[in-house]
Amino acid sequence: MFSPVLFALASLTAASPLATRDWQPGNYPPYNVIGASGITLVANLSNPTTAIFDPPVHGWTLSSVHVGAGLNAAILDPSHGHVFFVNGSGPEISGEATSLNLPPFNSTSGPVPQGLVYSQAEDKSKGYLSVNFGYGTKGFGIRAGLRSQYPVLFNPTGHTEFMVCNVSVPVYGRPQYPVFVVEEHAAVPDNCALMHLLPQCASIEEPLLGGEEFGWQPVGASCYPDVKALDWQKYSDPVYWGSA
Ligand SMILES: *[C@@H]1O[C@H](CO)[C@@H](O)[C@H](O)[C@H]1NC(C)=O
Ligand SMILES: *[C@@H]1O[C@H](CO)[C@@H](O)[C@H](O)[C@H]1NC(C)=O
Ligand SMILES: *[C@@H]1O[C@H](CO)[C@@H](O)[C@H](O)[C@H]1NC(C)=O
Ligand SMILES: *[C@@H]1O[C@H](CO)[C@@H](O)[C@H](O)[C@H]1NC(C)=O
Repeated sequence: MFSPVLFALASLTAASPLATRDWQPGNYPPYNVIGASGITLVANLSNPTTAIFDPPVHGWTLSSVHVGAGLNAAILDPSHGHVFFVNGSGPEISGEATSLNLPPFNSTSGPVPQGLVYSQAEDKSKGYLSVNFGYGTKGFGIRAGLRSQYPVLFNPTGHTEFMVCNVSVPVYGRPQYPVFVVEEHAAVPDNCALMHLLPQCASIEEPLLGGEEFGWQPVGASCYPDVKALDWQKYSDPVYWGSA
């Protein structure tokens, strides 16, 4: 029932070598490092009161909307965020080559893995973000010290910036807020706002089916107990280390 072609959508990205990080001393928000557990991803807009969105989407969580067989565009949702886990081995953590996955979908023909997928638009104006059937794209992670001084989702471009847009195109059906990866040197369109996605601790309710087949190795997650409760006035901005 599920074509292997879908699995090929999960592209592999070579891990970039770890450069020496310039660690700035500062006051950073406290976070937990938890065992193999789950996280939701909370939208933290650089300009939370932007007029692009009504109601504001600051504090909404990453979810997805069905756009084709096994394909789901990433969107923000006020309350029904996906609970992801980070999968990978030790060397993949330090090599920034982990993936973010959802517990497998239990189909009638067996469990189907699901993961966060990045693919670049043909004109390189943006990167598509999806939650598709398959293993997901390697290069997503949240570990502090890899791409920033505290946990923030980074993506396979090596950067931590995402944008959410106010678009009304038929493929999204009702009003939706699609989320994209910001490509280096690409302009942010007027109907889009820059943001980071911050991990919030959550528990995974579903079992990780298909363990042997999919080789799950959930790794400990770094996450904030409550992103909305963070008082950013108290904290220093981190330095983001992107891959050049
Ligand atoms: C989160 O959003 C607030 C308000 O826009 C901002 O001050 C803060 O720097 C943001 N933090 C991160 C990690 O993006
Ligand atoms: C999107 O922007 C239009 C104006 O450009 C505005 O009328 C509409 O309310 C916005 N939609 C959402 C869902 O924020
Ligand atoms: C999870 O990570 C392990 C360790 O790298 C890997 O062998 C396995 O294929 C990954 N599973 C998925 C579904 O990505
Ligand atoms: C998965 O689906 C099968 C039937 O297709 C069912 O027997 C099994 O209980 C389900 N497992 C979970 C964990 O939901």
